[in-house]
Amino acid sequence: MHVQEINSILNKESFTRNELLTLLQANDLQSDMLYKRAQLVREQHVGKKVFFRGLIELSNQCKKNCLYCGIRTSNSHVKRYSITDEEVLSAAIFAWEHGYGSIALQAGEKTSSHFTQRITQLLRKINKATRGELGITLSLGEQSIATYKQWFDEGALRYLLRIEASNRELYAKLHPQNSAHDFDKRIEALHALRNVGYQVGSGVMVGLPFQTLEHLVDDLLWMQEMDLDMVGMGPYVEHADTPLFQHKEMLLPAMQRLELTLKMIAILRIAMKDINMVASTALQAIEPHGRERALKAGANIIMPNVTPGAYREDYNLYENKPKMSDSNADYTKTLEESVVMAGFSVGYGEQGNAPHFKRRSN
Ligand code: 5AD
Ligand code: SF4
Repeated sequence: MHVQEINSILNKESFTRNELLTLLQANDLQSDMLYKRAQLVREQHVGKKVFFRGLIELSNQCKKNCLYCGIRTSNSHVKRYSITDEEVLSAAIFAWEHGYGSIALQAGEKTSSHFTQRITQLLRKINKATRGELGITLSLGEQSIATYKQWFDEGALRYLLRIEASNRELYAKLHPQNSAHDFDKRIEALHALRNVGYQVGSGVMVGLPFQTLEHLVDDLLWMQEMDLDMVGMGPYVEHADTPLFQHKEMLLPAMQRLELTLKMIAILRIAMKDINMVASTALQAIEPHGRERALKAGANIIMPNVTPGAYREDYNLYENKPKMSDSNADYTKTLEESVVMAGFSVGYGEQGNAPHFKRRSN
């Protein structure tokens, strides 16, 4: 593939399957062209600001058993925790006081009415303590429509639910075959969230065993078809205490999984100009500056972990998950410096909702 051919693809507004495949196969030089183009689109459509979402990992208790995930219910090596309401509240206040416009509440999947009520109460308390100024994102798995509504009515704005792999056959290789891990139900959940009124986020893992470039092309087309407001894509990182670990010899080297993720981010930025896209923590697990590289490829969101330090060790979705304390003022400064070094600024005190959502709600 010649430089001119890549250039002519990059100047298009939308890509065919073949063009997407070509872009995913870009060599280093061509990738740089791809990132430059993505950067231009990003500047024009979402600007040069990076928004922080303080991530609070409420609990690592999960009823599901995804084959790739370190905190799956069958992993008995995990010390299960649930942080107290006071701890959640003080993490939220930390984020708010440091000018993070938003927080994200994340936990393993739980569907008891006790859990639903607890989140409802927490949303109320957080909004009261922060004058309703924080944009609150939920990442709490598949729930009933009534639950989505209840949380939305308490002021949650956004919901993240990754499809993980949009190809049905690949999805089936990553999950147990039962109704708790049903592909169609997950898609339905995404539609339900949108109908309730949330800004909806989804995304996939990149570099999974059994995953081909064709699958990644499917993912790119699927995300466009779903008209998502937010996307989170990260490299798959193996975890020794999971069933998928047995296929580790099929994997691309970690660095290549990272590069492929950057290409996915850049391509999607060009194709879905005004969405929010996160520079995921999993990138950082592979390379210390992975997140900054994602910003340069078109991502515009960072989720600094503000979970109390004592629990960090136990939210191990994958190996090498960074454990250092993001939740101190110094770290916010360091992170800001790295954002500025990468050529951007931090959107302090702003929720930073995706222009895409505003556009589609008009
Ligand atoms: N590698 C990378 N990402 C993972 N996740 C779970 N397990 C892994 C892993 N082994 C991601 C999933 C999930 C998010 C919370 O973490 O995409 O949606
Ligand atoms: Fe639970 Fe999410 Fe891990 Fe699946 S990926 S086991 S739902 S925490």
